[in-house]
Amino acid sequence: AKPVIIAPSILASDFAKLGEEVRAIEAAGADWVHVDVMDGHFVPNITIGPDVVKALRPHAKIPFDVHLMIAPADPYIEAFVAAGADYVSVHPEAGPHLNRTLKQIRKLGAKAGVVFNPSTDPSVIQWMMDEVDLILVMSINPGFGGQTFMHSQLRKIEALRKMIDAEGRDIPLEVDGGVTPETAPLCIAAGATALVAGTAVFRGGPERYAANIAALRG
Ligand code: DX5
Ligand code: ZN
Repeated sequence: AKPVIIAPSILASDFAKLGEEVRAIEAAGADWVHVDVMDGHFVPNITIGPDVVKALRPHAKIPFDVHLMIAPADPYIEAFVAAGADYVSVHPEAGPHLNRTLKQIRKLGAKAGVVFNPSTDPSVIQWMMDEVDLILVMSINPGFGGQTFMHSQLRKIEALRKMIDAEGRDIPLEVDGGVTPETAPLCIAAGATALVAGTAVFRGGPERYAANIAALRG
């Protein structure tokens, strides 16, 4: 099996030192940088926009995995891709035409991801698997870091693993929310190949990042 992809969420980092934090997680062995974009409308919190992504991009070489928790998402995709996003992931609820949104992301030159809230049925992508470069399962309700992993989502990860394998596709299946050294093995056993972690990576400060990332790999 391929090694699991670890994508630290900078939501849990020190926002006063974002450039340093991104450099530190790359040096500590992170595979991707997970960027949580929130608009205070789709989710009850506000974070960062494309200008911050652009400012951070020169600080690391690893891919930027941009998770849009904004509605509408379409008008902002171009700015995030121009800012250096490698993956752009959207929630199906963020717009009326998911297929069109995913095509737009690809056309702009980024990889297109779909994110499922805990209550969202993932069958919405069943007729468009060719359009999808990344699937992200939320194991918390989006909006905040530090929440408790919802074990109910393990069955959704299993179902999506079956869908991906049935199509013979090789796309990352990522999990976001409450991922810790305790819950990471459950996600991996269910078929996840990428793990987002905020609290579990950034706790303890920079001298802990490498050990924290290694602990998630199991
Ligand atoms: C929440 C975000 C997550 C969050 C995860 O809406 O999508 O990426 O940062 O934080 P932890 O790992 O602390 O649950
Ligand atoms: Zn996220």
